[in-house]
Amino acid sequence: MKTYLVTGGAGFIGANFVRFMLGKEDCKIVNVDALTYAGNLDNLTGLPQDRHIFVKADICDKNVIDELFQKYDFDRVIHFAAESHVDRSIEDPEVFVRTNVMGTMNLLNTAKKYWQDGDGYKKDKRYLQVSTDEVYGSLGETGYFTEKTPITPHSPYSASKAAADFLVLSYYDTFKMPVIVTRCSNNYGPYQFPEKLVPLMINNVLNLKPLPVYGDGKNVRDWLYVEDHVKAIDIAAENGRDGEVYNIGGHNEKYNIDIVKIIIETVAQMLPESDERKSKISNDLITYVADRKGHDLRYAIDPEKISSELGWKPETNFETGIKKTIKWYLENTEWIEKITSGEYQNYYSKMYANR
Ligand code: NAD
Ligand code: DAU
Repeated sequence: MKTYLVTGGAGFIGANFVRFMLGKEDCKIVNVDALTYAGNLDNLTGLPQDRHIFVKADICDKNVIDELFQKYDFDRVIHFAAESHVDRSIEDPEVFVRTNVMGTMNLLNTAKKYWQDGDGYKKDKRYLQVSTDEVYGSLGETGYFTEKTPITPHSPYSASKAAADFLVLSYYDTFKMPVIVTRCSNNYGPYQFPEKLVPLMINNVLNLKPLPVYGDGKNVRDWLYVEDHVKAIDIAAENGRDGEVYNIGGHNEKYNIDIVKIIIETVAQMLPESDERKSKISNDLITYVADRKGHDLRYAIDPEKISSELGWKPETNFETGIKKTIKWYLENTEWIEKITSGEYQNYYSKMYANR
């Protein structure tokens, strides 16, 4: 039975990964999460207590991470924990460098310390860095990000992720540590915090609130259902080659404005006839607001390497994925009400006050 150290497993993708892995195989997961605004224990209900051990801790805390490596003989480190929202990084970059760069370095150093065995490493250990296509910067109207695309991040968020990626890869080049980096496009699905485009729009439509579209809505993102991402991470962690980068994406590019319109239409369709909101939901809710600073125009992933080398392919098309996602938000109104009360209101009003 493998033992995993998963960081950030109370966040969106981490929680989906933990659920997927515990359902898929007889593994044990030690889930370390600081429970920032983005981490939520309600994302982890119903998991087998004997195989899921939750530890509330900061990945920058050297003592805690060391104690965990001492206590558990980890086979895999899957590192999700991060400050992940571009708009927040524009407001307050420092915490992004602390968590995303220093936190990564702490994990690398501790894994290296406990996994080293003479000149090499103990058998079958691997560290996987969950990274993002945003490290490649922005594309024009055409072309795709491959693993060879130059790293040219534009936001403090993507710059901190790029710095972390370079550190991870340097531990392979310098110390021959068994590491892999995956870089994925935009995810959507259950448990996503409603500051990101898809859940924010779903939540606002359901509350008949304005739908803030940045700029002209013509920026393009490449959308992947979260379950396809966590499956790719699992495959890369098992069968990937050390020191390599794998891009993850499903050739599903869409203009932001089209995503918003699809959400409006699908939510309206999915609400029962008796629901008073149904007739009030329309494109009139769309509100164009000031653009994000340094807004990347277009992201699009070429997933050829992970497909041909590791046999991964996305299984959920956007039409199915967005319906599953909206259904989940409709069935989990308590989750979203809890998350969007309190501090979220301050964040939301501040973020959109001047737009
Ligand atoms: P998220 O913001 O939903 O979750 C991040 C989690 O990390 C939260 O549970 C939070 O409490 C935890 N965390 C933050 N700082 C911490 C710290 N110092 N110590 C311990 N835990 C801490 O993020 P997400 O969308 O699930 O993204 C997970 C990872 O995937 C990130 O590394 C992100 O860069 C990457 N990624 C995200 C996407 C996407 O579309 N969301 C796409 C590609 C890659
Ligand atoms: O590409 C992967 C990245 O995708 C991840 O690394 C990040 O962690 C994740 O947050 C996401 O970054 P984006 O900036 O692309 O996602 P976001 O949901 O914030 O925005 C998607 C697009 O929608 C982007 O062009 C900005 C726009 N947008 C966003 C919000 C929140 C709006 O037009 N209105 C909004 O209110």
